[in-house]
Amino acid sequence: MLDYKITEEEFRSFQNFIYDHAGIKLSDQKTLLVNSRLASRLRHYSLDSFSQYFDLVMESPPQGERQVVTDLLTTNETYFFREPKHFAHLEKEVLPKWRGGRPFRVWSAASSTGEEAYSIAMLLDDMLGSMPWEIVGSDISSRVLKKAQQGLYQQTRIDGIPREYMSRYCLKGTGDYAGSLLIDKKLRQNVTFTTYNLKKPERKMGPFHIIFLRNVLIYFDAETTKQIINNLVRELHNDGLLFIGHSESIKGVHRDLEAVIPTVYRKTPGGKRK
Ligand SMILES: C[S@@+](CC[C@H](N)C(=O)[O-])C[C@H]1O[C@@H](n2cnc3c(N)ncnc32)[C@H](O)[C@@H]1O
Repeated sequence: MLDYKITEEEFRSFQNFIYDHAGIKLSDQKTLLVNSRLASRLRHYSLDSFSQYFDLVMESPPQGERQVVTDLLTTNETYFFREPKHFAHLEKEVLPKWRGGRPFRVWSAASSTGEEAYSIAMLLDDMLGSMPWEIVGSDISSRVLKKAQQGLYQQTRIDGIPREYMSRYCLKGTGDYAGSLLIDKKLRQNVTFTTYNLKKPERKMGPFHIIFLRNVLIYFDAETTKQIINNLVRELHNDGLLFIGHSESIKGVHRDLEAVIPTVYRKTPGGKRK
């Protein structure tokens, strides 16, 4: 039994807030989810209703409380080497052609807890040898970024990491850290994490050779998707690649993007090449 029950009107208030702030479209079926995720905040402040909590967040939010709501209303599911076809494409088609010189730059643009960024880091270190590279991971949720920065994971969550990479790049914890795994310092040094709201970009991040924007477009409507893709294309080098999730589509969203394989796009300014 829920000790707090959100009304339809209260749900709408949070639905509008997260849409305006993050572009996340919470469907009406998400009422229970919002109820259960935010109830702990009502308890924390000894409030009687969600409307009281909403007023607190809007009118005189305690330091960081809007961020807490954002953290609680985002879905951060991720894992190492998710959607392996993307990593195979990088390994077989992209990285062997890289000639070095300047750093190879990758952006994991909705990185969640960092598994995606570190998966790419393992592949880059393996494939590029002594050639320089760097990865930026970003997310709207500061809670997940703290975890990403630590690079410390439960060993139950590491299924996707190839065996060879496990021994090269992951340190198994002992003592107090038994059951956990730390990403090797050599990789962590080249991976930085920062907060970045895709809906309200406030600074330039690129240019990048690769942008991963996976399993986040599903939360946006067509208009927000278009706005975000427009911005991200500006952050790509010409011929740079944009990877989106396998259940997502940006067909026809930007004239400078050409499909390479399903869910991988190349920036080709001026439209498709003949
Ligand atoms: C399901 S996770 C995807 C993680 C990873 N890219 C993957 O494919 O496994 C979606 C992430 O997008 C983030 N997100 C949602 N809206 C965002 C926004 N407006 N700006 C930046 N990140 C956002 C969430 O906080 C969440 O961590």
